[in-house]
Amino acid sequence: EVEKDPEYKSPIVCVLGHVDTGKTKLLDKIRHTNVQTGEAGGITQQIGATMFPSEAINSLTRKLPNINVNILVPGLLIIDTPGHESFSNLRSRGSSLCDLAILVVDIMHGLEKQTLESLDILRKKNIPFIVALNKIDRMYQWKAMQDEAFMTTFKQQQEHTQEEFIRRAKEAVLAFAEQGLNAALYYENPDPEDYINLVPTSAITGEGIPDLLGMLVNISQGSLAHKIKYKPQLQATVMEVKVIEGHGTTIDVILANGVLKEDDKIVLAGFNGPIVTNIRALMTPMPLKEMRVKGEYLHHKKLYATMGAKISAQGLEESMAGSPLCVASNEDEIVDLCEEVQRD
Ligand code: GTP
Ligand code: MG
Ligand code: NA
Repeated sequence: EVEKDPEYKSPIVCVLGHVDTGKTKLLDKIRHTNVQTGEAGGITQQIGATMFPSEAINSLTRKLPNINVNILVPGLLIIDTPGHESFSNLRSRGSSLCDLAILVVDIMHGLEKQTLESLDILRKKNIPFIVALNKIDRMYQWKAMQDEAFMTTFKQQQEHTQEEFIRRAKEAVLAFAEQGLNAALYYENPDPEDYINLVPTSAITGEGIPDLLGMLVNISQGSLAHKIKYKPQLQATVMEVKVIEGHGTTIDVILANGVLKEDDKIVLAGFNGPIVTNIRALMTPMPLKEMRVKGEYLHHKKLYATMGAKISAQGLEESMAGSPLCVASNEDEIVDLCEEVQRD
């Protein structure tokens, strides 16, 4: 286990967008998992979290022609959210701690109702984002090159297929303009400060995923460099409350800064007043595994940000998702923290 404060932490990247645009499938493609096919009706109904270690990202970004992505961050913690209209509270909660977001748009459908709702959240919270223009494999007679960088595969498409893509990308640019936003395909973006980057992707073929990951890393280490510096002050939020066989009621927590330890006295909001308890087990899924999926958990004595962690403890039954999670270092702090967590 790591014993000293890390210099950099993994940025937290939230995935938002209209239902069925391919948010979960994109993550499945990078993880080599099939989470989406296990979802009831193929619909995401919870907030997910997956740690993508930099080695996994590096093996994909190496595909980018003429671009060298030098990865300093330990990885990316990616938060999956539901796109179905009834889950706007989860979209809001899922984006609450994120440094950066991916707004997924189905290139065949353009901007849809929850795309606009997601845009609204991102603008209100001032979260920088890039757009994955997903499902490019649906262009007529698209010839897939598995996991390739976009330009590599685009160049070998037939002219009419390229034209269809360009036409649909232009429609997306126009739709963003109608929302008062400048957008451009990322490889022809005249000014990334001013124009949203559109990154063409396919979650089925993996095309464009190297571009998407490369861009997330570059933005994190560039304009967001101040956000990836590790800070010792604890910052954590309860994302989900779940009963897990063998562990009772557990909470899924996003640890954005600071450290959590086994036996820490935690304070969080509950439906019948604040909850004060001690961490019994501090767990994470394996890297590249989704927190939502039942599987093997790694147990930790100590966890540094950034991480998606599962905590088991006594008395979590009435935990309120969305609550901040605090740690009391002495008895005197408990009263103040109890007030703090119940505030909203
Ligand atoms: P919610 O979480 O329910 O909002 O949906 P989502 O955005 O996570 O989309 P999901 O991953 O569930 O994918 C929805 C459907 O689109 C599934 O049938 C996928 O197989 C399909 N799909 C996703 N990405 C692509 C893509 O790039 N190309 C094609 N052809 N189909 C895709
Ligand atoms: Mg999903
Ligand atoms: Na879906």
